[in-house]
Amino acid sequence: MADKTLAGKTALVTGASSGLGVDFARELAQRGCNLVLVARREEKLKQVQAELQAAHGVKVMVVTLDLGEPQAPQLLHDHLKAQQTPVDVLVNNAGFGVFGMELEIPWDKTRQMLMLDIVALTHLTKLFARDMVQRRSGFVLQVASIGAYQPSPTYAAYSAAKSYVRSFSQALNYELRGTGVSSTVISPGVTATEFLEVSGQRTTAYQRAMMMTSAEVAAIGIRAMLQRRYSVVPGFLNWLAAVFTMITPDPINAAAAYRLMKN
Ligand SMILES: NC(=O)c1ccc[n+]([C@@H]2O[C@H](COP(=O)([O-])OP(=O)(O)OC[C@H]3O[C@@H](n4cnc5c(N)ncnc54)[C@H](OP(=O)(O)O)[C@@H]3O)[C@@H](O)[C@H]2O)c1
Repeated sequence: MADKTLAGKTALVTGASSGLGVDFARELAQRGCNLVLVARREEKLKQVQAELQAAHGVKVMVVTLDLGEPQAPQLLHDHLKAQQTPVDVLVNNAGFGVFGMELEIPWDKTRQMLMLDIVALTHLTKLFARDMVQRRSGFVLQVASIGAYQPSPTYAAYSAAKSYVRSFSQALNYELRGTGVSSTVISPGVTATEFLEVSGQRTTAYQRAMMMTSAEVAAIGIRAMLQRRYSVVPGFLNWLAAVFTMITPDPINAAAAYRLMKN
């Protein structure tokens, strides 16, 4: 059902060709929000475009782009300016993890991950949130991970990157007070998407037991964003795990994370 806040507005969703990005797009489209969908796989983006245009009658633009390239966020911003498409909602969702012992992971893989999960997310936020502040209205949703709450051996650089996202979003949200713009961070636990396949990890028993659907997680994320909450951890058990990490020393958190990630 169209929503007063979002009807006729435009949301930019990165990583909208699979998993959580598709469901963030669905949540926004069903509230009457037009969309700009970004990822590298054009065919997949076009399928989402066709589905959402037909189901909700919203305008959906597809932009095929590798956001891990240093100039990509600026190119995207320039492109949308040229198209006279102001962005009211930014969902910084594109991201991936790399599973393995840190010193065994090739530098190039880690570099690509940091370029996407940290650098592109920060650059996109600066470009689009500045415009929102000028218009004194807007929402940013940053996708972190439950891994942001603890050091996670076998996902060392990924969980550190997501800690950056969580900290960055919360600090930015404070700076945005009184501007009409907010930055909400969502820290999902394991969610049924292409994530594990891309990271190279076989699903563990713990992950199978904890797994949420991307539709559930996206619904919680968009609701929290619209409520301008500074942070949300979807799922009671994930929330409990996050609370647990805050009262437990980090060496114990690291050991627990390592055991839970082992096959
Ligand atoms: N699933 C989980 O268990 C889980 C848990 C916590 C946090 N997260 C976070 O949730 C977010 C979404 O991941 P997901 O679980 O939905 O995984 P996914 O199904 O693998 O989706 C990742 C999305 O990011 C896009 N992407 C990857 N590299 C890109 C690049 N260089 N440029 C542009 N787009 C790129 C992918 O599209 P293309 O391949 O078409 O480019 C895809 O649309 C990520 O930030 C992830 O870290 C996931």
